[in-house]
Amino acid sequence: MSRRFLFVLGSSRSAGNTELLARRAAEQLPTDVEQQWISLAEHPLPDFVDLRHDADHTRPREGNAALLLDATLAATDIVIASPLYWYSVSGHTKRYLDYWSGWLRTPHVDFKATMAGRTLWGVTALADAEPVVADPLIGTLNNSAAYLKMRFGGVLLGNGSKPGDVLNDTAALARAKTFFASEAPLARFPGA
Ligand SMILES: Cc1cc2nc3c(=O)[nH]c(=O)nc-3n(C[C@H](O)[C@H](O)[C@H](O)COP(=O)(O)O)c2cc1C
Repeated sequence: MSRRFLFVLGSSRSAGNTELLARRAAEQLPTDVEQQWISLAEHPLPDFVDLRHDADHTRPREGNAALLLDATLAATDIVIASPLYWYSVSGHTKRYLDYWSGWLRTPHVDFKATMAGRTLWGVTALADAEPVVADPLIGTLNNSAAYLKMRFGGVLLGNGSKPGDVLNDTAALARAKTFFASEAPLARFPGA
């Protein structure tokens, strides 16, 4: 299967540090790897409603939920490019992940079987100088990948506050050059 990367942009502003860093990493992907970029701020999902146990719960056929579901199912690699907001993923990103719970129970979607073996990656920018404060975001993505039996490529971290700051983080730019070439083992829950 040829690889297809879906970049899910979770910032509430465009061309922020997270997106800049993700684009630097994506520049290194081979040309035969397809890329799709979707900004959640530009394609907002309605409030998540938990319909998992409702019998008439059906697959979305239009709107941003359908766009994101189809793009997610079509991707071999999903890149969550979310800024660090309150030590975790942004609200837009969290809502997208909440939708995964609905898709897991949507008839005829086969979300769990489709996602198993695919790869989840993260890219995040944070203002704090201590990368360790992003551990909750890393844990969220690692555990979500483990739950779905996905591979996890880790999280590319960059430092910055105002847009463009991350371009001064030379260590992050260096990591971006090889990020998507790194090993992505099957995700495991901590202690498993
Ligand atoms: C709502 C909000 C919450 C934030 N929370 C954190 C945080 O917990 N830790 C941190 O280091 N930076 C935090 N920041 C700063 C952003 O992570 C930083 O500005 C980052 O560059 C934003 O990414 P973006 O440029 O891609 O939008 C926060 C910013 C906002 C707007």
